[in-house]
Amino acid sequence: MRKPIIAGNWKLNKTVEEAIELVEDIKVKTMDLDKNRMPTVVVCPVFTAIKSVADILERGKGIYIGAQNCYWEDSGAFTGEVSVPIIKDLCASYVITGHSERRQYFGETDENINKKAKAILSHGLIPIICCGETLEQREAGRTDDIVKNQIIADLQGLTEEQVAGSVIAYEPVWAIGTGKTCDSAEANRVIKLIRDTVAQVSSRDSADKVRILYGGSVKPSTIEEQMSQSDIDGALVGGASLKAEDFAQIIKGAMLVSSPN
Ligand code: 13P
Repeated sequence: MRKPIIAGNWKLNKTVEEAIELVEDIKVKTMDLDKNRMPTVVVCPVFTAIKSVADILERGKGIYIGAQNCYWEDSGAFTGEVSVPIIKDLCASYVITGHSERRQYFGETDENINKKAKAILSHGLIPIICCGETLEQREAGRTDDIVKNQIIADLQGLTEEQVAGSVIAYEPVWAIGTGKTCDSAEANRVIKLIRDTVAQVSSRDSADKVRILYGGSVKPSTIEEQMSQSDIDGALVGGASLKAEDFAQIIKGAMLVSSPN
């Protein structure tokens, strides 16, 4: 049984004051939910707001904190970077790595993502490793190869236990921020392919345990269908996670569907 995850990626949005307001609103709107049935909920603010958001949330009571990126070295002469021990010090438990926006705008490679995943895991945090094809790659019929190769490279050298404890997010680039959600059956097909790839490079057991999320224009109106798919274990939500009401509705929608796993 894989525990579902609903994670909000706030991207480059919200000052500290605005982040506090949003998380307080999310907390109020999810307060009465049955904690035993609630998915693991994660919010990923910008670095500067992590501490203030963490002070508001009580860890272990339903809502966890994630960072949106990290560097793989612990400390040293790396101007402008933030390391995993420093993120851990802020009480974050998750770190997103390999988001397509970082691949696209900041030149992040699978080699970097693999180093980051190893650093995150070595400090006991959980990586949310993102993969996904561009529109051009999909139209050229290259989706499966692109996604498979990203996963093989991103997970290289991880132990079976580390893979089992990681989270993967399939985010087709063309579905991010466009309002064009990937068809649920198609998202499930690619996620199954990712799971089979994990089984090949790691083990069947870790493939059965690793949680794989879908991301790309997830909304309250799409979550139930997405969560009812056999292999979709949750969602990585962008735009809709910036509205407390929508994010709470997505969490509630996920709770309505009991996954066949
Ligand atoms: P949207 O939900 O805004 O499409 O963003 C998805 C995403 O990139 C989450 O990481």
